[in-house]
Amino acid sequence: MTHSNAMAIQAEEDTEFVRFWNEVLAPKFIRFRHILVGGLTRHSAAVFPDLPVHSGDRVLDVGCGFGDTALQLARKVGPNGHVTGVDCCDAFLAEAQKEAAAAGAGNIDFLRADAEKLLPRGEYDFVFARFGTMFFANPVAGLRNMREALRPGGRMVHIVWRNRADNPWLSMARDVVLDFLPQPGDDAQTCGPGPFSMANEDTVLAMMKSAGYTDIEFRRVDAPVLVGRDVEDAIAFQLAIGPAGEVFREAGELAEQRRPEIEAAMAKAIRAETTGDDGIIMPSSSWVITARNPVDAGEIVEQGEWK
Ligand SMILES: C[S@@+](CC[C@H](N)C(=O)[O-])C[C@H]1O[C@@H](n2cnc3c(N)ncnc32)[C@H](O)[C@@H]1O
Repeated sequence: MTHSNAMAIQAEEDTEFVRFWNEVLAPKFIRFRHILVGGLTRHSAAVFPDLPVHSGDRVLDVGCGFGDTALQLARKVGPNGHVTGVDCCDAFLAEAQKEAAAAGAGNIDFLRADAEKLLPRGEYDFVFARFGTMFFANPVAGLRNMREALRPGGRMVHIVWRNRADNPWLSMARDVVLDFLPQPGDDAQTCGPGPFSMANEDTVLAMMKSAGYTDIEFRRVDAPVLVGRDVEDAIAFQLAIGPAGEVFREAGELAEQRRPEIEAAMAKAIRAETTGDDGIIMPSSSWVITARNPVDAGEIVEQGEWK
């Protein structure tokens, strides 16, 4: 296991999902950083001005990836506040540290941790996660750790994808690839439950309540995302990352044999999409979920959801 210079807290060995992020996904995410950061930013930009984050706050950014939201939060809390970006992937943390150093941010640090297992406890005013919590294999454990990182009364916001139908930027490519390749088997290597695991409002509400949160609210955000600078970039992105990438990767040799047909079909589908200033744009939709750590256990008991 290669560690970045980030501090690390770890209870046990890496899980298979954490290894998958480090060994398989990290190089692909770095290659397509221009799409990922640019696209995901539109969903957090819709809520950033209203986040309950104040000058002097202590903030945790869980699954911080390349660290761009951690840096934005560090600007919000100012020199008297502090932000800790947490991720389980060494390569992302190394990039995040470089960004923070280049920005001269003195109020930010990074921690290597698996949020499902262990997070710092009870210190933070605000916990944030953009498109990170959907990958928790045990979501209630991860969400509970995030809550226990908060001081009593502290707030959390996490952003997750809504359903497949409203996220054609991920689902369309998978449908195209499945015209040529089989569904991944139950033993497929993955990064965890995947992008749509928190799409269902009722399920996530139950998870949040079980993790001990109160004042849970959902806000829908629709935003266009860039899927590639051009058709070629978009095809490469889709075959590397996300649900289509998983089908392609798992099909191994067969995928390579059928690559020309798949790429032709994908090119046809992508050409039907809108082209904007930066490249090809597709619709996407997320939930911005806000919640609070109760001030005392009585608040939770009233809800009758405490486990
Ligand atoms: C889709 S990326 C989003 C990254 C970043 N928040 C952003 O919006 O650009 C998901 C991130 O969650 C991290 N992650 C996944 N499971 C994790 C876990 N159990 N503990 C900590 N980080 C995790 C991944 O390494 C990855 O950086």
